[in-house]
Amino acid sequence: MRKKVTFIGAGHVGATAAMRVAELDLADIILIGGIHEGMSAGKALDMAEASPMEKHHSRIAGYTNDYWDVEGSDIIVISSGVARRPGMSRNDLLSTNKEIVRVIVEKAAELAPEAIVIMVTNPLDAMCHVALEVSGFPKHRVIGMAGVLDSARFATFIAMELKVSVENICAFVLGGHGDTMVPLPRYTCVAGVPVTELMSTQQLEAIVDRTRNGGSEIVGLLKTGSAYYAPACAVKEMVEAILKDKRKIMPCSVYLEGEYGINGLFVGVPVKLGCRGVEEIVQVGLTEQEQEDLEKSADSVRKMVNVLNGINLRSTGKHGTGKKKEVPVFKEKTKKTSAVLRG
Ligand code: 2OP
Repeated sequence: MRKKVTFIGAGHVGATAAMRVAELDLADIILIGGIHEGMSAGKALDMAEASPMEKHHSRIAGYTNDYWDVEGSDIIVISSGVARRPGMSRNDLLSTNKEIVRVIVEKAAELAPEAIVIMVTNPLDAMCHVALEVSGFPKHRVIGMAGVLDSARFATFIAMELKVSVENICAFVLGGHGDTMVPLPRYTCVAGVPVTELMSTQQLEAIVDRTRNGGSEIVGLLKTGSAYYAPACAVKEMVEAILKDKRKIMPCSVYLEGEYGINGLFVGVPVKLGCRGVEEIVQVGLTEQEQEDLEKSADSVRKMVNVLNGINLRSTGKHGTGKKKEVPVFKEKTKKTSAVLRG
């Protein structure tokens, strides 16, 4: 039986990621969300119509607020929520996206209790906390997409600077998905050669800084939203590692219980991704400075989680979203036909 990957959030990130995963030909795809009736169905049909050219056999269906087809999903990718606009930090999205994620995860966990959740909604690390708490899933099945994207940005900038193939770069970024993330030049190689031997400290510092602000740079250019091509590819990499049980080591936001000296917090660290989700948290040695930077990054996640814990989700008072229309409302179970009939 084919696997099933559900994307909740049919905006640029969700839809692009769904398309990339469909092209892997490893699973059927469900796309849920959209700002009006027909949006997800339309995108799903459009993607299905690309399949003769892309030569994949993934069946793709799209729904607006009809969550029943989430049932039995192997992986659920959540990208619903409001995105950043220029001048906003990821943290500015905290209360609105917390409510959206809570409602979605509650429903999704009920319909697909064995699924692995990949969180994409920002502020990423904090939203992973919401997903873990609301779903009641074991920690190895709630994973945040950030380190793969941040490492890809780091690799891109190194390749641009050195004028070498991106394929030569193996880059590593740890920490929370924010301005305090920790790109690790010491563990970053170009065709096996440590990048520290190929660039000056000043060059590396500029690239580290650009990586930390990689998301904001795109927001500043787009003006009406945030990045989606690279985030979608990062999701695809993670989904592929899980579906193929690759046990590939990738930096992901995971719940730490003492690893790297951090307790009770989602922070980006290298993990082995396989069919169970997080198969293992890989611990690498850090210098004093690197450890200090990681702890600083973890502190910024902790601050957000503390704010999060102070938000009363079910109230629409001071901390509530006050924007009910952004929070999904579920439809009753219906025997409905999607854009693409599933066999
Ligand atoms: C970014 O860094 C979407 O947070 C994401 O672009």
